[in-house]
Parts: sequence; C-alpha cells; structure tokens
Amino acid sequence: MKSIQDLVRPEILELSAYPVPDATGYIKLDAMENPYPWPEAMLDEWTHRLRDVAMNRYPDPSARQLTERLKTAMSVPEGQGVMLGNGSDEIIQIMAMALAKPDAKMVALEPGFVMYSMIARFVGMEYIGVPLNAEDFSLDLEKTVETIKTHQPELVFIAYPNNPTANAFDAMSIEKIVEVAEGVVVIDEAYQPFAEDSFMGRLGRFPNMLVMRTVSKLGLAGLRLGMLAGAPEWLTQFDKVRLPYNINVLTQHSVDFALSHLPEFEQQAAQIRADRRQLCEALSSLEGVEPYPSRANFILFRVPEGRAAELFERLKERGVLIKNMSKAGGVLSHCLRVTVGTAEENKAFLEALKSSL
Ligand SMILES: Cc1ncc(COP(=O)(O)O)c(C=O)c1O
Repeated sequence: MKSIQDLVRPEILELSAYPVPDATGYIKLDAMENPYPWPEAMLDEWTHRLRDVAMNRYPDPSARQLTERLKTAMSVPEGQGVMLGNGSDEIIQIMAMALAKPDAKMVALEPGFVMYSMIARFVGMEYIGVPLNAEDFSLDLEKTVETIKTHQPELVFIAYPNNPTANAFDAMSIEKIVEVAEGVVVIDEAYQPFAEDSFMGRLGRFPNMLVMRTVSKLGLAGLRLGMLAGAPEWLTQFDKVRLPYNINVLTQHSVDFALSHLPEFEQQAAQIRADRRQLCEALSSLEGVEPYPSRANFILFRVPEGRAAELFERLKERGVLIKNMSKAGGVLSHCLRVTVGTAEENKAFLEALKSSL
C-alpha cells in the first residue's frame, strides 16, 4: 500500500488547515461576527415558521425564493444573475475550479483574505500576491496593473473593503484594474454593510467584473450563505461546478426570513459603524497603539514593536480573544486585529489591552 505521503498532492501536504481557535468562554472578537442576538419577537416568529420546513425533502436546488429576496436586499441591478454558495468561501472555490485550466493564475492583493491563496492551491492554480503600499495599505496601482498585464490571470480578487487591513481601496483604481484585466475580476464585498459603498451598481459596465457578497458579517454567519452577482453568461458556467442542493433548507428559509427584517440588521450595522469610530478613537489614545482607518466591522492596529504576540496572549488571559496578525509577518509584524463588538465587549477589550500594555 502507498503511504499517505505518497498519495496526497505535495502542495496539500505542505498546507496547514485554516486555523479556528476554540473560543469557548472568551469575549469573541476574532472573526468579524455581528455581536447582536435577534429580538425576542423575531426569534418567536422564526422558530414558529421553521416548523413547516420539510426536513425530509432536498432543498430547492436553485433557491428561487431566497434568490429573489437577495436580489432586492442587495440591490442587484436588473438583468444581472445571482449564484448562491455555502458561504462566499464556497463561491471562491467554485470560480477557481471552473477556471483552473493548466497554467491558470490567480492574482490578489497582500495582505489579503487568506482563502484566496489557499483555494488557488487546492485547485492547482498559480497564486500571485501583489503587495499593498506598506505605509497605509493603499493599492499600488502601477504594480498591480503591471502584474496583471504580465500574467493576465484567469481570476483576480479585490476585497472591498479589504481583510485584514479594513480599508477600502480607491474605486477609480479598481475600475482601472478591471479594464486592464482580461480575466474575471471579483469584487469581494463581504464587509459592504459597514462600507456604505459598493460596485454592485457598476455591474453592467464591465463584462468581466463580478460582485460577491455574504450575509455572514451582516449577522448570519452561522447560516453560511454567500452570493455572486454578475452577467448570467458567467454564472451559467460557474453553476455547473456548484454541487446540487448546496444551500440547505434551514439556511434558505432562515435567511429569507431574516432578510424580511432587513431594517433590524441595517440598524445593527449602523450601531457597529458608530461603535467602530469610538473604538478607533480609544485605541489612538493609547500610547504606542496605532489603529488603521476602518471601513469594515473590525480594526487593524499596530502595537509597539515586538509586542504583538505577547499582547495577544495577555488579552486571552484576560478573557478576550482577538486575532494575532503578527504571525503573518512582513507589514503585519506588529499588528493585531479586533472585531467591533457590543459597547460592553469593546470596553472589556480596551480595559484588557490597557492593563496588558
Ligand atoms: C474578504 C472576505 N471574503 C470572504 C469571506 C468569507 O465569508 P463567508 O462567511 O461568506 O464564507 C471573508 C471572511 O472573513 C472575508 O474576510
């Protein structure tokens, strides 16, 4: 019998699985989740409705009702198509699988969302990361355009706003990239509820541009639902790679129900945006701490040199779990990332950070 080492592809042997720490008992500010529970009346209505969901049947394979709801809630322009994924992670994987011809390439900005490069590896695409400007994480347009012209990748990802840096790149520069690219450019708008800006309205203008959204950050991370919007011709091809029934019945009904209460979630997002400003100001007032401007529901901040890992651990000892970005090295060497939580959670985090410093 062949060994595991012999059988598994070398690039998979080299990988580490996506790390998710055990957050039991912690104030959880590590994963950009919405911290607010649903109001009681909403919970009652939802649980009541779930009684009628047919658990013994496969889900609607094209999730028609939910798709219509999403098109309205996410302002998808008339004539543009929509494909749903089990989280936007799955959509990234679907697109990559469909485009992974031999020698196919993927380009994304660095530091960026780690799943882009991981999925490139899963499907055997060559991944090329273009560094952002080190001082402020803005887009290096010249370098990005040059990289795209040189490699003409099949797939380009631009997170708008970006994770982990939390900034939104200059929109005109993104348009330039879309124009220069001969492949598909995906604008990943996972953090749109906190950015108050979007490329959705520009969909008809660029045939190679697609817009990806998720309901995770809005407050439905547990339901796993992502959405890709764009030209139906593209979506028809990607849809062939999507596994049938990828959106289960509970997700279809629950997201549809939740989005019928969209103002509730929009209000929570507005609260998070207001609390983000306060949290940013509070961080700036701490000696040696430097938050980067944020258009998302999290803040990347620098701490005194060489102290990131230690501060992360001290926060944990005080019951607060954030994300230690310093492990990634390079421009993130002295950085930590905190999700904006409730007012009480933010206060607890700030107090823990102050005493740890
Ligand atoms: C930029 C970006 N895109 C996509 C995702 C994945 O979202 P989902 O929960 O829909 O898989 C994340 C999650 O953190 C993200 O930061």
